[in-house]
Amino acid sequence: MNLSLHQNRRERLLTFISNNSVVLVPAAVELTRSRDTEYPFRQDSDFFYLTGFNEPDALLILSKDNSGQTASLLLCRPKDQLAEIWQGRRLGPEQAKAVLGLDALPVAELDTELLKALNQKTTLYYAQGTYAEFDAKVAATLATLRRYPKRGYVAPTVQQDLRPVTAEMRLFKDQDEIHQMRQAGYISAKAHKRAMQAAKAGVWEYQLEAHILHEFAMHGARFAGYNTIVGAGENGCILHYTDNSCQLKDGDLVLIDAGAEYQGYTADITRTFPVSGKFSPEQAALYQVVLNAQYAACAKVKPGNKFKDALDAACLELTKGLLELGILQGDLEQLVKDNACKTYFIHGLGHWLGLDVHDVGAYKVAGEERPFAPGMILTIEPGLYIPTGSPCDPKWWGLAVRIEDDLLVTAQGHDNLTDLVPKEIAEIEALMAQGHS
Ligand code: GLY
Ligand code: MN
Ligand code: MN
Repeated sequence: MNLSLHQNRRERLLTFISNNSVVLVPAAVELTRSRDTEYPFRQDSDFFYLTGFNEPDALLILSKDNSGQTASLLLCRPKDQLAEIWQGRRLGPEQAKAVLGLDALPVAELDTELLKALNQKTTLYYAQGTYAEFDAKVAATLATLRRYPKRGYVAPTVQQDLRPVTAEMRLFKDQDEIHQMRQAGYISAKAHKRAMQAAKAGVWEYQLEAHILHEFAMHGARFAGYNTIVGAGENGCILHYTDNSCQLKDGDLVLIDAGAEYQGYTADITRTFPVSGKFSPEQAALYQVVLNAQYAACAKVKPGNKFKDALDAACLELTKGLLELGILQGDLEQLVKDNACKTYFIHGLGHWLGLDVHDVGAYKVAGEERPFAPGMILTIEPGLYIPTGSPCDPKWWGLAVRIEDDLLVTAQGHDNLTDLVPKEIAEIEALMAQGHS
């Protein structure tokens, strides 16, 4: 653990809040999967960003007094021999200073410490509405403070949403985050290549998912950042298809959208390829349209440009291509004006990426779309989806293509973190030929 990294983030966060304030950042809660088994624990992204600590039942309290003096405190699970034999190791408050750079107390002291921390502060910052149980605790603490003024209690009068503050920080990745994101991209690219090579008729979608997850884990990424999408044939038209329960057939395309979560940070890659290892003429034609759009959009990712610039470039290529293939008819200029490609390009062009796959960060500032700036990481993911019954020649029906990469904005332009996995038709066919041999 890089101690000063998280300490610096906490210190920086405190520079964004007013004097005489308190900040509460609770850890995520464990979720039941069935009866007495839980889902794998996933830490709250803000909590993880500020502490690097991966246990539930914890709370980070940061405060700033009237003179601007700051303090921090962690509440966490105590060491407990029996609990640790059953459920796993705990850090314990005694180790928190050395490992996390934080003074800490056992979580049993939470109610008392919350009361102390909120008392006589003007402003309370936290992410209201994320954890119902924690909301209730905060409400109860505020009620106590309001109820007993004679004990010297004064409740904060202002409640601020902490999310915009942490979101703005998290939007701009530091060197450590860029490193983790590069790793996530590298691991995910390897997994996509492996799935391409493993694909053939008769393989089940969930078996390709298994290749992906195995490759992730073999490179230190035990979990995916989101549920893996493996859609063969028309399943590719279901944007968040995660059933992954069908068998691959020759003549189908497969769309895989998968990203490894590495040290908390996720990649988000989509590739589309033919089960047979060879694109049919229709598949190749549609694929090339999406690829042209993806290149055009990526070329717009540089400081000063906005998502809208990339979207306009992608839409122009998609519309041109759809017109050439006869899937759209009419005048190019008019079709672009009418956003005609949106009949088949049914989602957004991309999103911020980081600790969360659809990462935090405002897309607009003061009502205006914000320009790209160095340190931002985003996806560019145009797609075309032509489900059966679409208003075009039935030879196109059932085709779905999406191509998605993760781009780091740099001073010069951008750095594609996921370009290790091929996307040119000839490259995909060559890679698949190795796997099919
Ligand atoms: N994997 C979800 C997305 O591409 O946004
Ligand atoms: Mn995405
Ligand atoms: Mn994706």
